[in-house]
Amino acid sequence: MKKTVVQISPSILSADFGCIAQAIQDIQDAGADMVHLDVMDGQFVPNISFGPKMVADVRARTRLPLDVHLMIVEPKRYIAEFAKAGADIITIHFEACQNVADTLQAIRDCGKKAGVVIKPSTDVHALKNVLDLCDMVLLMSVEPGFSGQKFLPQTMDRLVALKQMIGSRDILIEVDGGINLENASELQKRGANILVVGNTFFGSTQKAQTVACLKG
Ligand code: DX5
Ligand code: ZN
Repeated sequence: MKKTVVQISPSILSADFGCIAQAIQDIQDAGADMVHLDVMDGQFVPNISFGPKMVADVRARTRLPLDVHLMIVEPKRYIAEFAKAGADIITIHFEACQNVADTLQAIRDCGKKAGVVIKPSTDVHALKNVLDLCDMVLLMSVEPGFSGQKFLPQTMDRLVALKQMIGSRDILIEVDGGINLENASELQKRGANILVVGNTFFGSTQKAQTVACLKG
């Protein structure tokens, strides 16, 4: 049986915003699998990044899947706009929605893959009732808001618990924050399917080699 390799999703939050086209080219040339776009509203998280226009501009430059992580209050308000901009996977925070199930359904209604994400302090079991509406679960391994933070070690146990709860369901597990060459293989071993990398990717001078090593 073919070994399933983990997929790598570089986050352009760590790129030079003055050279986004080059960042997309670098992601493609390095053999990464998708592009992670961190959308922040300055309310759900203390940082502000970019909105649907960035997603559309990136869409125009690549055929790689666009993995859009919405760190915004009541993301349901913007699902249609991000779908129209060309997102393939739209991930919404469990903590940011009045009605998580409705929000996930809204993403699916736009024909996109729906993901739910939890902060490090949210119990993974809180997701139990919405799993059947998810194509992906994203586990934050840092507090959302900024790239370049230190990986939280409790993520490993949380990942095991999440994997167990998902069971035989067809749901991908993505992990985001502080991922590097030291912790990537442990994450893969515990069931992660997609690894988001900001500084580890954009801080590397040998990006293709970094992606290959992260895949293990
Ligand atoms: C944090 C973002 C992450 C972050 C990853 O809120 O969701 O995607 O940019 O960056 P690194 O890998 O540097 O922690
Ligand atoms: Zn992210």
